[in-house]
Amino acid sequence: MVTQIDYEWRGQITDAEMLRLVESYGGNAEEAWWDRIRTHSLGWVVARVRDGSLAGFVNVAWDGSDHAFLVDTKVRADLQRQGIGQTLVRLATQHAKTAGCEWLHVDYTEQLSPFYVNACGFRPAPAGLIHLPSL
Ligand SMILES: CC(C)(COP(=O)(O)OP(=O)(O)OC[C@H]1O[C@@H](n2cnc3c(N)ncnc32)[C@H](O)[C@@H]1OP(=O)(O)O)[C@@H](O)C(=O)NCCC(=O)NCCS
Repeated sequence: MVTQIDYEWRGQITDAEMLRLVESYGGNAEEAWWDRIRTHSLGWVVARVRDGSLAGFVNVAWDGSDHAFLVDTKVRADLQRQGIGQTLVRLATQHAKTAGCEWLHVDYTEQLSPFYVNACGFRPAPAGLIHLPSL
């Protein structure tokens, strides 16, 4: 059965909830992470199960003008593969457009290409990365 989910742009989310979400899929949870980065965000989408528990999240950072950056897409482990991630990204995309951004960027590992390209509609494009701590 598909779980009923409510989505909210710039919805409230606590640092403790974020930690539990990341821990659910074995990610690297870092205390106070969300409180620290929230001020740099254009906005974010919060997904909640009808009982109020956090189901997923995606953040949209930006350059203050026409470039927005989709980061930290997360869906609780037991709720994955129900279309929640796809809906989070669709709503984030709509809000970035409404905010006047022209481009929405994302980077991901090759294995997530079916998610970002096929399911979410991103066009693959050349991009570059430098891992600064390795310099
Ligand atoms: C990646 C993630 C956000 C996807 O969320 P989700 O709600 O499970 O995704 P959806 O149900 O919307 O998936 C839609 C389609 O995308 C593709 N897809 C989803 N997760 C995928 C994965 N892990 N690998 C490959 N394809 C995937 C599938 O084609 C899927 O359709 P299907 O279930 O009918 O096969 C989720 O797996 C997650 O939170 N992972 C841990 C954190 C992470 O890696 N985030 C990405 C940072 S770049």
